[in-house]
Amino acid sequence: METAVDPTGHILTLTDGDAQMRFHAIWLRDNAQDAETRSPTNGQRLIALRDIPHDTRIAAAHGTEDGIEIRFEPEGKTVAYDADWLRAHAYDRSATQIRGWVAEGVECWDTGISDDVPSGDLNALEQGGAALADWLNGATRHGFAKVTGGPAEEGALFRVVDLFGYVRETNYGRLFEVRTEVNPTNLAFTGLGLQAHTDNPYRDPAPTVQVLYCLESTAEGGENMVVDGFACARRLQQENPDYFDVLADHCARFEYSGEAGVCLTSRRPLIELSPDGELIAVRFNNRSLATVTDIPFDKMDLWYAAYRRLGEIVDDPAMEVTFRLEPGESFIVDNTRVLHARKAYSGTGTRWLQGCYADKDGLRSTRDAMHRAGLEAAE
Ligand code: FE2
Repeated sequence: METAVDPTGHILTLTDGDAQMRFHAIWLRDNAQDAETRSPTNGQRLIALRDIPHDTRIAAAHGTEDGIEIRFEPEGKTVAYDADWLRAHAYDRSATQIRGWVAEGVECWDTGISDDVPSGDLNALEQGGAALADWLNGATRHGFAKVTGGPAEEGALFRVVDLFGYVRETNYGRLFEVRTEVNPTNLAFTGLGLQAHTDNPYRDPAPTVQVLYCLESTAEGGENMVVDGFACARRLQQENPDYFDVLADHCARFEYSGEAGVCLTSRRPLIELSPDGELIAVRFNNRSLATVTDIPFDKMDLWYAAYRRLGEIVDDPAMEVTFRLEPGESFIVDNTRVLHARKAYSGTGTRWLQGCYADKDGLRSTRDAMHRAGLEAAE
């Protein structure tokens, strides 16, 4: 790598074959990997920015066998940087991504993946290794995954959570029961279908993973269905960018106060973007959408038209993946992305599922830690 420093000492330009990468002196100094700046044992930064002089500059830089070495003034500190680390963390690129992009490794889907849903056997997943790594990758890529081969036992859903994280307890308990007696002669017990939704958008933060585990299923119908909220949002954007923007730019409100002592409220958009336009969450739940009062008067008609169209896309069979859960089978969804629903029942019988919430930071952490351990083992 060839190095060049601008006359002020504030910008380093690295030439790496045909590629050029610029780095700022303050960024390089803050990201020094030496033992005084970063803990060699846990990787945590040992200094605060206030410990780095505001007039930090590069006094000298030169290439070494496996990277570069830089001397910073006024500290008079010399730091070595690994070439691969610099390449992996280069940030000198133009920001041209349009709104609604999705993170690397996320794959939007529709009904076309119905024959190829991510799935794993519970006992095999509990052994860890490649089976678990594949399942976690699939769950992250698609935002949902099935688990088969478990026991039809109460509480077995916690074994699914144990694969990657921890239960998130709520006012519904550590788990909740989803029990339906299907008797078409009595409407009250008819298992009507539910529109696809994300759970608990009235929480802040909303639960980011939901597990639904089947214990009994003798009724006909009542299949589970999932819809990729990211795919729906992007289809809405393709059809009508104004619809996408109005849902992303204004907050809806959600509420649940259906039991004594509970008043859960949130103020969040139906389509949530990061400041640089990454699609990070979809909230869609007709039952808990509260009165929206944060849409400007002259955009309320547009917001409702956009919300209606998003709902039509969610309801489009071309977007859905449907599967039947047998006793001992379960699935997880990324509740910030994938909507779930239950189809209507057609015959008599019972259906009993247990559900619980967990969080996807644990899922991603388990996946990434396994990935890094694999990379290190391969080195
Ligand atoms: Fe639900």
